[in-house]
Amino acid sequence: MTPKSFVPLIDPFDRRVRDLRISITDRCNFRCTYCMPEEGLKWLDRAEILSFEEITRLARIFVENFDFDGIRLTGGEPTVRADLPLLVEKLSGLIVPSTDKPVDLAMTTNGSALRLIAKDLKEAGLTRLNISLDSLDPQIFHQMTRRNHLDKVMDGINAAREVGFHHVKLNIVMIRGTNDHEIVDFATFGRENGMQPRFIEFMPLDADGAWTMEKVVPADEIVERINDVYPLEPILHGPEPAQRFAYKDGMGEVGVIPSVTKPFCGNCDRVRLTAEGKFMTCLFAIDDFDLRKTLRSGGSDRDLIRQIQAAVGTKWAGHSIGNVNFIRPPRSMSQIGG
Ligand code: 5AD
Ligand code: SF4
Repeated sequence: MTPKSFVPLIDPFDRRVRDLRISITDRCNFRCTYCMPEEGLKWLDRAEILSFEEITRLARIFVENFDFDGIRLTGGEPTVRADLPLLVEKLSGLIVPSTDKPVDLAMTTNGSALRLIAKDLKEAGLTRLNISLDSLDPQIFHQMTRRNHLDKVMDGINAAREVGFHHVKLNIVMIRGTNDHEIVDFATFGRENGMQPRFIEFMPLDADGAWTMEKVVPADEIVERINDVYPLEPILHGPEPAQRFAYKDGMGEVGVIPSVTKPFCGNCDRVRLTAEGKFMTCLFAIDDFDLRKTLRSGGSDRDLIRQIQAAVGTKWAGHSIGNVNFIRPPRSMSQIGG
């Protein structure tokens, strides 16, 4: 079969954009300190949130017109959205024109609901899972997530593996003085259980505004500390933000995401859709583009395509966390989508 026609989305810095993160809710059942405030965050009204039909229509445009090959569902916490497997089913059927294969459909979750829905998600066509797990110590887990649910998350991770999510990645936001003494424990845990830990540098996207540079544990330090115990070698990789390393003894991999100390903006291929249908070309973008307005005012696919192209035309070179000219974005992580 000849590939269907598509128009690649190229940004002003000649980066091919082809990875879409869709936040499907701003709500969450956790209150991680690095993301949400303890209380007082105002939720969006139901009517403000894109429906499954609206999400699917936009996703179809990204995949079929712009040849996007990856979609990741995020939140808030995506599993708090009712009937999530129905959405997964709609999205997993989208075919990437250049490969004629289904889009790679992943999800980032806090894991707490996986015992209940992992099987349905798998059957609906979800391909990959990233699960947040910030500590292996129940007390520190409680302190960081403000919920005493380590057991539930561990059980959720097991449930995911039982139903066939074999390459689960564990997202660990590293905060100096809180969980950085667990770096090697996480490596050991990953090696013993066949899971890939991904250590993420703490970014200034916490609703509390408590971020400081001192709380960032540099990715290089994380790699060094693991390498001292389990020797590592780097793996060459594509546009993904994680730097990956393999254990020299063949016992798997670890990843680090140096979003602060070594931003990966140079080969960023991502864009984002918020739960209320705002299109963002960067996690740290100040401007957003209201696709919901176009959807709900009867806009055609052509109108949406033009709006997306215009937005990508404003994608900037990169953020500058740590520089004096860095502007903190107006939304916290749970409002953008992780
Ligand atoms: N810094 C770094 N990562 C964050 N996440 C959320 N807030 C932050 C932050 N301030 C990541 C978590 C979670 C994903 C949804 O987003 O790793 O797994
Ligand atoms: Fe891309 Fe923006 Fe993230 Fe940099 S901060 S990697 S430009 S999305």
